[in-house]
Amino acid sequence: MNIKNQIKNILTDSANALGIENLDKLVVSFSNRPQLCDYQTNFAMIVGKPPMELAEKLVEKIGNVEGFEFSVAKPGFINIKLKDEVLNDYANYVDQDEDLGVEQLKEKKLVFFDYGGANVAKELHVGHLRSPIVGEALKRLHETMGNKTLSDVHLGDFGLQMGLTILQLKIDGFVDEFFKIDVDLNKIQIKGVTLDVLNEEYPKASKRKDVDEKFKAEADQITLYIQQQKQPYFEIYKQIKALSIKEIEKNYDMLNTTFDFYYGESDAYPFIEETINKFVDQGLARESEGALVVDVAREGEHIPIPKKSEDEPQRYKNPMPPAIIKKYNGGDLYATTDIATILMRNRDFAPNEIVYITDNRQVGHFEQVFRCCKLAGVSPKEQKLSHVAFGTMNGKDGKPFKTRSGETVKYKDVLNMLIEKAEAKLVENGIIGDKELARKIGVGAMKFGDLSNTVSRDYVFDIDKFLAFDGKTGPYIQYTIARINSILNKANFEGGNKIRVETQEEREIVLAILKLNSSYRVCYDAYSMNALCLSVFELASAFSTFYNNHKILSQTDEERKGAMLQLCLLVKNCLSKALYVLGIDTVEKM
Ligand code: ARG
Repeated sequence: MNIKNQIKNILTDSANALGIENLDKLVVSFSNRPQLCDYQTNFAMIVGKPPMELAEKLVEKIGNVEGFEFSVAKPGFINIKLKDEVLNDYANYVDQDEDLGVEQLKEKKLVFFDYGGANVAKELHVGHLRSPIVGEALKRLHETMGNKTLSDVHLGDFGLQMGLTILQLKIDGFVDEFFKIDVDLNKIQIKGVTLDVLNEEYPKASKRKDVDEKFKAEADQITLYIQQQKQPYFEIYKQIKALSIKEIEKNYDMLNTTFDFYYGESDAYPFIEETINKFVDQGLARESEGALVVDVAREGEHIPIPKKSEDEPQRYKNPMPPAIIKKYNGGDLYATTDIATILMRNRDFAPNEIVYITDNRQVGHFEQVFRCCKLAGVSPKEQKLSHVAFGTMNGKDGKPFKTRSGETVKYKDVLNMLIEKAEAKLVENGIIGDKELARKIGVGAMKFGDLSNTVSRDYVFDIDKFLAFDGKTGPYIQYTIARINSILNKANFEGGNKIRVETQEEREIVLAILKLNSSYRVCYDAYSMNALCLSVFELASAFSTFYNNHKILSQTDEERKGAMLQLCLLVKNCLSKALYVLGIDTVEKM
C-alpha cells in the first residue's frame, strides 16, 4: 500500500484530464507544514501556467475522492490531507504485512559488502569503529528491502605489519623454536605470544623501522617470505593470524557485526599474477619509474600545473594519478590486491553490486580501483561498484578523537567506556551488575549517534549526549520499546485486535510510521542511515505524546482498549525493526 503513489495517481488523472504536460515534474512529498496537511506538491508552481489558477483547476477536477482532501495554498501549493480512514487502513495493513509495510525492491540484487577492514596483528583503534557500524547497517537495510547480501571483512593480513611483527618476535626470542634445525612445523605452537604481546611488539617494530633502515629491509624481506609462503615464516604468520582473528571477531561481535567471510588480502594473492596480466595483455599498463602503472585519468583530469621553480614538486589540477599495479621491488600492492579481490569475487559470486565502506581518505584509491576494473573488464559494465566514504569521529574539540596524552584511542577503550557509562546510568535506575544490558545500551548509543549523521560528514563523538535516555538517542528508542513492553505485559495483551485511529495523537503515530517506512528507501538511495534515525525518533516521540495524553490500561471500553494496545504493539514492532536495521539491540528493561 503506497499512499504517495495513490496521491500521485489522482493528481496525474486530473492533470491528464486537463491536458497538462510535464508530468515527470510531479513530485509528491511529505508536508513541511504538518499543521496544515500531510503531503504537498509544488507541481502547479513549476509547470508554467499561473500557479494558483492551475492548482485550483487541478483540485477542482479532482473533486471529492475517497480518503483524501485536496486544497490549494498560496502561492500555488496543492496540500493533501489524509482522512482517518486512510490512516486506519494503512495502520492495519502495516500491522498485517510481513514486512511491516517496508516496501520491497522490485528488482532484487545480490550485493557484496566489504567493510570492517581490520589489520591482523595491529590493534583496532577508534578509526575502525565506523566501518562496522555503517557497513552492518547498510547490509541489514539491503536485506530488509529484499536484496541478497554477502559480506567480507577483508582483513589486512598481508602487509608490512606482518613482517615487522614477526621480525620483532624473532628478535625478542618468542619464536626461537621455529628456527631450530629439523623441527616439525606442524607440531609447534607459538608460545607466550598473547594479544597483549602482539599489541606491544608491532608498535615497537613500527617505530624502529622509521629510524633503522636495516631493520626495515629485513622486515620487507620477511613480508616477501610470507607472501611466498616460505617456512618457517609462513607458519608463524598463520599462527599469529589465527590468534588475531579470534580477537577481531570478538571485537566485531561486541558491535553486533558479523561477516559471511573472514577473507583477507592474502586470499587475493593467487589472483595477483592474472590480474596484472590482464592489464599488460590488453595494453593498459605502462612502465613508469620502475613500476607498472595504469592511466585512469579522464579528459580534464590530472592536468599538470606549470611549476614556478625547478625544485617545486609537480602539482595537478583535478588530480587522478595513475594506479600503481606493480612495483619491481615487490612490496605494497594495495590497489592490485583490491582489483584481484574483485576478480575473485566476480568469479565466485558475480554480485550485481560491490559496496566498500571506508573512511574518506580512501576516495582516490577506490576511484582508481573501480576505473581499473572497468577498463580491464574485471568488473562487467552492468556491475555497480560503490564506495561509501565516511567522515571522522571527532572529540569535543572538533579534532580527531585522541586520548588526553594525544594518542589514538583504542577500540577496546571506547567500548569499555561506553559500557561503564551505561552501567552508571543503569545504577541510577536501580539496575545493578548487568554488563550485557550495559553493552546493548552503550553500543546502541554510539551507533545511533553515529548513524544519525549524514555518513560523509565528520561528527563529534559526545558520549554523554549519545547516552541520554531522552532526546534523539539510541537509549531513548530502546526505552520507548521497553516501556511499550511493560504496558503490553501489564495488559496481558497478545494482539489480534484491529487498530482504530480516533485521536490526533494516534493520527500522528500512523503518520510517523508512514514516514518511517518511506525513509528506508531514502537511506537505500543515499547509502546513509540518517533519515531512518530521524524518523524512528519521531515515531518514538509521537508515541510518548500519545501515551502521556491518553489512558490506556484503565480504559473501560474493551474494544477501544484493544485498539489502542494493538497500536502500541505496532509501534513497538516498527521501532524494533528499525533498530534491528541500525544494528542496535532492543532491551526488556532499563
Ligand atoms: N585494511 C585497510 C585499512 O586499515 C582497510 C581495508 C578497506 N577495504 C578494502 N577492500 N580495501 O586501511
